[in-house]
Amino acid sequence: MKKIVFTGGSGRFATIFRLVKHKYQIEYPSKTKLNIENFNSVLKYLIKNKPDYLIHCAALSRPMKIHEKNISKSILTNIIGTSNIVRACSQKNIKLIYFSTNYVYPGTKGNYSENDPVLPINNYAISKLGGECAVQMYKNSLILRISMTEKTIYS
Ligand SMILES: NC(=O)c1ccc[n+]([C@@H]2O[C@H](COP(=O)([O-])OP(=O)(O)OC[C@H]3O[C@@H](n4cnc5c(N)ncnc54)[C@H](OP(=O)(O)O)[C@@H]3O)[C@@H](O)[C@H]2O)c1
Repeated sequence: MKKIVFTGGSGRFATIFRLVKHKYQIEYPSKTKLNIENFNSVLKYLIKNKPDYLIHCAALSRPMKIHEKNISKSILTNIIGTSNIVRACSQKNIKLIYFSTNYVYPGTKGNYSENDPVLPINNYAISKLGGECAVQMYKNSLILRISMTEKTIYS
C-alpha cells in the first residue's frame, strides 16, 4: 500500500479530507513531530516513515492580515518551511504535492491557466508563491493553486 505523509493534518482542509475513503496509508504528523520550520525535524520524520508521497498543506494561512503584520512568521512558515519540505523530499526522492493558492493570480478575469502571469494580491499570496519557487525547482512535484470557500457543506 502506498504511504502518504500529510503536513497540516489539524487544519481546515485536512479535517474534511480525513473523512474521505481512500486506498492509502496516510500519516498526519503533528507540529511537534514534523515542524516544517525545522529542516532536521522534517528530514528525520521522512527517514523514519519512508512515504511515497508528501502532501504539503501546513502553512500560516488565516487571518490574512497576519502576513502584513508579521512578515517574519509568514516567511518562516510559508517560504522557508516549504523550502525545507522540498529539500527533504528531494533528498529522499519523495513525490511532493504542494497546496498553493488561487490568490497568486490577480483575480480579475477567472479561468486562469498555469501559464498565465501571476500577480499575488497580498503578502499571504506572495508567501505561498515564495513556497512555489522552491517546489518548482524540484521536478518530482505537483503544485495545486487551490481556491476554497470558508465552509464546506456536505449533503
Ligand atoms: N482554506 C483556504 O481557503 C485555502 C485556499 C487556498 C489554499 N489554501 C492552502 O491550503 C492549505 C491548507 O489550508 P487550511 O485552510 O487547511 O490551513 P489551516 O487550517 O490554516 O491549517 C494549517 C495547518 O498547518 C499546520 N502548521 C502551521 N505551522 C506549522 C509548522 N511550522 N509545522 C508543521 N505544521 C504547521 C497547522 O498546525 P497547528 O494547528 O498545530 O498550528 C495546521 O494543521 C494551506 O497551505 C493553505 O495555504 C487554503
